[in-house]
Formats: sequence, structure tokens, C-alpha cells
Amino acid sequence: MKLIAVSDEEELSRMAAEILFAKVKASDRLVLGLATGKTPLGMYRFLTKYSKECKQSFKHIHTVNLDEYVGSVTYHTYMEQYLFQHVDIPSDQTHLPDGLAASLEDECKKYEQLIKKLGGIDLQVLGIGENGHIGFNEPGTKFDSRTHVVQLTDSTLQANAKYFAGIEQPKEAITMGIGTILESKEILLLAIGERKANAVKELFNGSLNKDIPATALNQHLNVTVLADKGARKLLDKES
Ligand code: F6R
Repeated sequence: MKLIAVSDEEELSRMAAEILFAKVKASDRLVLGLATGKTPLGMYRFLTKYSKECKQSFKHIHTVNLDEYVGSVTYHTYMEQYLFQHVDIPSDQTHLPDGLAASLEDECKKYEQLIKKLGGIDLQVLGIGENGHIGFNEPGTKFDSRTHVVQLTDSTLQANAKYFAGIEQPKEAITMGIGTILESKEILLLAIGERKANAVKELFNGSLNKDIPATALNQHLNVTVLADKGARKLLDKES
């Protein structure tokens, strides 16, 4: 696992966007796995900026997001607001799990088939939860899990409560499984702030621990972690 140490959120966002943008420019067709949450907001801002400045088309890009809340379009709205409406990516090439699907079980199967049909994910962007979750794979999730419905833990509900002020917060989500994520050809994990420091420390101690889902990434051969000073606070090999 490669660690890129950056000083702060701004530098991390710029570098993450540069990594994605270089791939967008270099490829004829690219399947990007995308994340939501606070962490990648700056990355989307820079990506939008670069695409405008360089007049770079996104018509050859396909996206699959990690997750969506059940009974909600929260992350569909987020992606529209922070990326899709700013670039010329065709809307039928952007995909998120459908949290409103009549059969959630069928939706999970369909999402797996979709990723397969797209030829797999070329680059998957991940954030990391304070409890080490990736996607919404909470502690205890099997490392070979596929897209599934998950009951969110209290820790995750609390961390995300701010996005649901005044409206009822969904307690379930559909998420790509850890096995699904591990099949991505390349993974870029972003970690910002001291609250992520313990999860980042566990990730770099090299073990595979089901209680810290992100440690599954130690099985993958092409993972880059971009971490700011806060997120690296508990790492021995501070660089
Ligand atoms: C979001 C996702 C989650 C977040 C994680 C960190 O699509 O899959 O795993 O990456 O909860 O969230 P933030 O970035 O808000 O700290």
C-alpha cells in the first residue's frame, strides 16, 4: 500500500483530482468508482475546475458509486450537485444503487451485474469511516461480500446525522460489498482529519481485521492512500 502524505484538505483534494483527471485525459474509456461524504468534496471541486479550464470532455467516463441510503436519493442528489451537472458526462453513464427500488435484493444483484457489464472498475475512490468502514461496509462485514443492504451502525448514523437535519435519517443503505470493491483494478483512499487517525493506523498495521473493514485493502496490490497530517497522526512511519 502506497502512502502519499499531504499537509491538509486543500492539498489532498488537489492531488486526488489531479490523479483522476490524468486518467480521464489519458483514456478512451474509463470506469470510475466514486464516493460521497465530506472527504471527496474538494476533489470534485478541483475536478470540475480542471475540466473547465482544460475543456476536457467526460463523455467517455462511466461512473459507479459505492452506496445510497434506502428510501432516499441523498447520494444521487449529491453527485448531481458536486460533479455530474458540471461535466459533460452522459447521464446514462452515471450509476448509483437505487435506494427506492421495489426489491432491494434484486437491486443489489442488478448493481453487481452492471459493474460486470461495464468491465469492472478501473479506479475506485474511497473515503474511510471513523470505525474503518469503506462504502457502508460496517465492522464485521465479510471481506468477500458483494453489493448488499446494510443496517448502519450508531457510529455511522451519528457521523452523518448532520446531513439529515429536520428530516428522518435512513437507517439502512445499499453498498457495494468489500469483495466488489477489492475487484477494482486500482483503489485511491482519501483520509482527512484526526477523527480518521485510528482507522488509518489500523489500515497501515498490515493485518486483515474484520472489525476494521478498510484493512481488507491490505489484500489488494494497487492501493494508494492520500492522508493529511491529522489522519496520519497515529502512524509510526510519519513522513
Ligand atoms: C460514502 C462512503 C463512506 C464515506 C465515509 C467517510 O460514499 O462510502 O464510506 O466515505 O463514511 O465519510 P466522510 O467523508 O463524510 O467523512
